[in-house]
Amino acid sequence: MVSLLLAAGASTRMKSKYPKVIHPLCGKPMIQWVLDAVSEVTNNVCVVVGHQAERVKEVLPDGVEVAYQLEQLGTAHAVMSAREFLDPSDDVLILYGDMPLVRGETLKRVIQDHRSKDCDVTLVSIESPDPTGYGRIIRDGQGRFVKIVEEFDASEQERKIKEINTGVYVFKGKKLLEVLPKIKCDNKKKEYYLTDAVGLLEKVNVHKEEEVEDFSGINNRVQLAEAEKIQRMRILRKLMLEGVTIIDPATTYIDSDVKIGKDTVVHPMTFIEGKTIIGEDCIIGPMTRIVDCVIEDSVSIVRSECVGAHIMSGVSVGPFSRLREGTVLHSKVKIGNFVEVKNSKIGSNTKAQHLTYLGDSEIGENVNVGAGTITCNFDGKKKNQTVIENDVFIGSNTALVAPVKIKKGAFVAAGSTITEEVPEWSLAIARARQENKLNWVLRKKEKEEG
Ligand code: UD1
Ligand code: MG
Repeated sequence: MVSLLLAAGASTRMKSKYPKVIHPLCGKPMIQWVLDAVSEVTNNVCVVVGHQAERVKEVLPDGVEVAYQLEQLGTAHAVMSAREFLDPSDDVLILYGDMPLVRGETLKRVIQDHRSKDCDVTLVSIESPDPTGYGRIIRDGQGRFVKIVEEFDASEQERKIKEINTGVYVFKGKKLLEVLPKIKCDNKKKEYYLTDAVGLLEKVNVHKEEEVEDFSGINNRVQLAEAEKIQRMRILRKLMLEGVTIIDPATTYIDSDVKIGKDTVVHPMTFIEGKTIIGEDCIIGPMTRIVDCVIEDSVSIVRSECVGAHIMSGVSVGPFSRLREGTVLHSKVKIGNFVEVKNSKIGSNTKAQHLTYLGDSEIGENVNVGAGTITCNFDGKKKNQTVIENDVFIGSNTALVAPVKIKKGAFVAAGSTITEEVPEWSLAIARARQENKLNWVLRKKEKEEG
């Protein structure tokens, strides 16, 4: 089996600067969804590109062949552009790059039907409540297939037919190669129609599919949003059936490559994106965005944004925390409200609970980072590192001017601005000493009142 994906059209109805098939759906280019479905039936795939070919090529994975259709003269012409790729001794599955809801299991069913009937071509039809724009399936009095009529060429009567051509076909390679050169452009659109190939073949099988959704084509952004919703619900449904609790699917957005373990609960208004992996028994959300993170078991992340972080088991994050690229939190770390962490490794049981910035730092275990602690990592030219060893106590409102090291067990007094290394088990106070002027207020009052 080989497969051809047609994706050369200009797709004007998207009103986009970019080719339609690269628009993302649940975090993946539209055409990638089709490629993923096709990969369940063959690894021998060729995409026909034309309009903005290079942009489409950019999103294609390695191993996918490309054929160029320089002028878009119709669906048969597109197939003709890829004839080098066709194998006369093999079947060819043809479909479009703008059908992101098609599933591997559905394609398998179509192919199985084709093979069981030994016909020249199997075309997939569906019953559509709104057939406008599609080619109609014309049948005779006995219900036998007669031909496909394009909307443009259809009569008033024919336009009432609700059974439509989805544009998905399985051809015998040899038969397709035989009829392709015979197709003419004698229709109203002056295009070479692939549907005419069906007309020229003898043994035609119409596979009428019940899974109507799978064959929705995306032509504009309204359909894009509808498809996104369907795809999103499929992803959530799969996760739920695998043991993830999703409190409110209507407000939960999870990309297709995300993995989540059993008994994790995802609360409303939560976005989990990219290549994120989440373990078991976690609490995620509400109101949380997670992108490309690795999260181990029993982690809680509430009302926070985490991008590119590795979060180990038992950690709690939020509410209102921001974890950025290169953050590694070891087990049972606590990151609390209004704490930002970037490119920092934080050891087990360490706590930074309030109003803190930890950037380019290495922090040991059992450290207490007081409220309002700031690593001053940027000197105006470059980023510098802060090292805090195990069992350190950093008092509130401390500025750690990097590069700087606080050694094991040290204690930094609140309000300090630390510019030099603090030795082990020592106290560092770096602030003006307090002076109390006794009865100063009373004396001031007396003076004022005269
Ligand atoms: C086609 C079918 C129609 C079917 C419908 C289903 C034909 C003649 N008609 O019509 O029976 O109901 O699909 O969606 O085939 N493409 C190219 N090169 C071209 C023309 C098109 O690569 O020269 C690609 C497009 O990018 C698109 C797909 O083929 O992905 C379908 O083309 P389109 O022009 O939308 O065909 P329809 O008129 O919708
Ligand atoms: Mg179309």
